[in-house]
Amino acid sequence: MYWRRRKTLVGLDVGSSAVKAVEITLSGSEPVVTGFARVEYGQGLGPLEAIAECARTGRFRASRAAAGLSGPSTVVRHLAMQAMTDDELKAAVRFDSDKHLPFDVDECRLDCQSLGAADSEGKQRLVLLAAARNALVDERIEQIRALGLAPEAIDLDLLALANAFELCAPLDAEGDGGAVALVDVGCTRTGIHVVSGLRSRFSREIPMGGADMTLAVGRRFDIDGPAAEAKKRDEACEAEVAEAAQPVVEDLANELALSLEYVEHHEGLEVREVLLSGGGALCPGLREMFEAVARKPVRWWSPLEGLRVDESRVDVPELGRWTPTLAVAVGLAARVRAA
Ligand SMILES: Nc1ncnc2c1ncn2[C@@H]1O[C@H](COP(=O)(O)OP(=O)(O)OP(=O)(O)O)[C@@H](O)[C@H]1O
Ligand SMILES: [Mg+2]
Repeated sequence: MYWRRRKTLVGLDVGSSAVKAVEITLSGSEPVVTGFARVEYGQGLGPLEAIAECARTGRFRASRAAAGLSGPSTVVRHLAMQAMTDDELKAAVRFDSDKHLPFDVDECRLDCQSLGAADSEGKQRLVLLAAARNALVDERIEQIRALGLAPEAIDLDLLALANAFELCAPLDAEGDGGAVALVDVGCTRTGIHVVSGLRSRFSREIPMGGADMTLAVGRRFDIDGPAAEAKKRDEACEAEVAEAAQPVVEDLANELALSLEYVEHHEGLEVREVLLSGGGALCPGLREMFEAVARKPVRWWSPLEGLRVDESRVDVPELGRWTPTLAVAVGLAARVRAA
């Protein structure tokens, strides 16, 4: 007798402030959230301890996980190249690696994917290049094993962000030259991914996030890290926090605006709106500042929108509380459809 392999996968997001793990199981073709855990780092609690805690509290049934990477040891590029096969593409990128990669090609894993024609004659193809240093990939594989699971895939956070959007909000996607910018403000970095008609068009990471806002709050009120973190999250202090964090938030908004201007000029796309995720974006005043500086409508989106949640396995209020920070984990688990 044959048993169909259960289609279930954990998306493991080892962030710079917390580990988030979301399990998605296919019920027929419907993706259902069947597990969730989130553990923040703290005194004596680093990523590995947090992952072990997630393994205890997540009650995962999956045997495999996909994890994501971000930061200076990773690269995502959109290149216009001559039409050729995927293998030829990879060889061409390797040959020209000095031009595309800030690190040695022999030190990294590299993947290329054709996104379709880049011009109307079809002579050029838009190619997505993703690469990450071996050391970082190996670290994530170890972290998946620390969760008690086997590695299914190692992805990049920026790509997972777009996968989450595709999983949850396909009807929102603009296909007529319009685009949306997914912006995930984390603790130490902010990821931007512009998609048009669900096609990836531009992505960039900015090395700024919630930690910089916490530092600004700490400086203003002359308090240390944990006290500044608590103040930043204290709903009773919203106005003071918004004012203290404003210079940092404005810098980040300017970087975002520059990226959107670049996309609109070079790709001929109209970015219709900015969709926010990430815990860093919860900082008071951030949404309004982004809207004012980037001159686009800015709103939150939920990576769980439209997804059924198995209430017998998931702490639903806790899941709801942290939903804004789960886009990357959901996007990683969304690979269950290909598993
Ligand atoms: N209620 C809140 N108000 C303001 N900021 C918050 C709130 N809750 C969390 N944050 C901030 O969210 C950030 C963490 O968000 P998130 O979990 O998305 O980051 P991460 O994935 O750990 O980091 P990164 O993506 O940079 O590796 C922290 O900087 C934290 O201060
Ligand atoms: Mg993150």
